[in-house]
Amino acid sequence: FSNRRPSHLLTLADLPPAQITFLIRRAIAMKHIIKNRVVSNPLPKSLSGGTIAMLFSKRSTRTRVATETSTALLGGHAMFLGSQDIQLGVNETLEDSARVIGSMVNGIMARVGSHDEVEALAKYSPVPVINALSALYHPTQILADIMALCEHFNPNMDLPITPSIGQKLPFRRQVENVLKRSLPEPDLGLKGKKVAWVGDVNNIINEILVTLPRLGMTVSVAAPKGYDQVDPEVWRRITEAGTQDKIILTNSPEEALNGADIIVTDTWISMGQEEEKAARLEAFKGYQLTNDLINRSGAKKDWVFLHCLPRKQEEVDDEVFYGPQSIVWNEAENRKWTIMAILS
Ligand code: CP
Ligand code: NVA
Repeated sequence: FSNRRPSHLLTLADLPPAQITFLIRRAIAMKHIIKNRVVSNPLPKSLSGGTIAMLFSKRSTRTRVATETSTALLGGHAMFLGSQDIQLGVNETLEDSARVIGSMVNGIMARVGSHDEVEALAKYSPVPVINALSALYHPTQILADIMALCEHFNPNMDLPITPSIGQKLPFRRQVENVLKRSLPEPDLGLKGKKVAWVGDVNNIINEILVTLPRLGMTVSVAAPKGYDQVDPEVWRRITEAGTQDKIILTNSPEEALNGADIIVTDTWISMGQEEEKAARLEAFKGYQLTNDLINRSGAKKDWVFLHCLPRKQEEVDDEVFYGPQSIVWNEAENRKWTIMAILS
């Protein structure tokens, strides 16, 4: 790594659509290979002997388990360093921590407060830094969302998995060939789909706004007044991509849901906003997703529901969350396969 500028992943806005497609196809191929093989793990051990430092200043279930398990499958070691464990930003600057930790590991996954913190780590780290959630963006989450959508809407996508596996070549060679064949293929089968977001304008929808329109989807965002402003930095990236005309902002959940193929929400109270809980619960009244709201708003009959989790009942009721049109469990599992694709 030493002579090259490391390639960080701070937001999917930095990746061209072909690279996003490449990662999705690779993640689907890896999932298939690992889950459908009897032999334990045939993938090339691209992190063999390597270490990923996980600098997490906030709680995590999915991102942590996905990173630790996928690093292990790639032959590496994931070292979890919580906010109580190290000096990060408390008794030592981020710059100094990035230099020191980066000198001993092969990559850093960082869950931080403000986005400036992950940018500072990336600026000074000699190894790649992956944003594991900041107040502004959550790139690894939206990759898992795209994968779940792709598996749902495009189950027959041409994948780099062939029936020839298990035949002539030695098995490991075959798997390597299969992964090499996951060449950029721009169409994930999601073009023209309408995404409706009903809820808080936070890191999850920010990441959606800078990513899904570039894959050909439209996004309607419904949030209450006072909570409906899109961060100027996110707008800068949208304008840069020229996708403003694929985005609609409204205060009306019904308007956002009308004609929607994909319905998404998230908690109204993100980590760090706990003191605003009472005010937020009041402001978001009427924004809870229910079958009644979705169906009377004129969503498509075969809509699907996504949620990054953890979920609270106030933003989406049980009928939707646990219902047959919810794909949240596959979405959650895909955190592992997409992070594995990124790390590999
Ligand atoms: N969706 C997500 O990032 O979950 P965790 O906070 O549990 O990692
Ligand atoms: N918006 C949530 C996402 C958690 C995965 C938060 O930042 O807490």
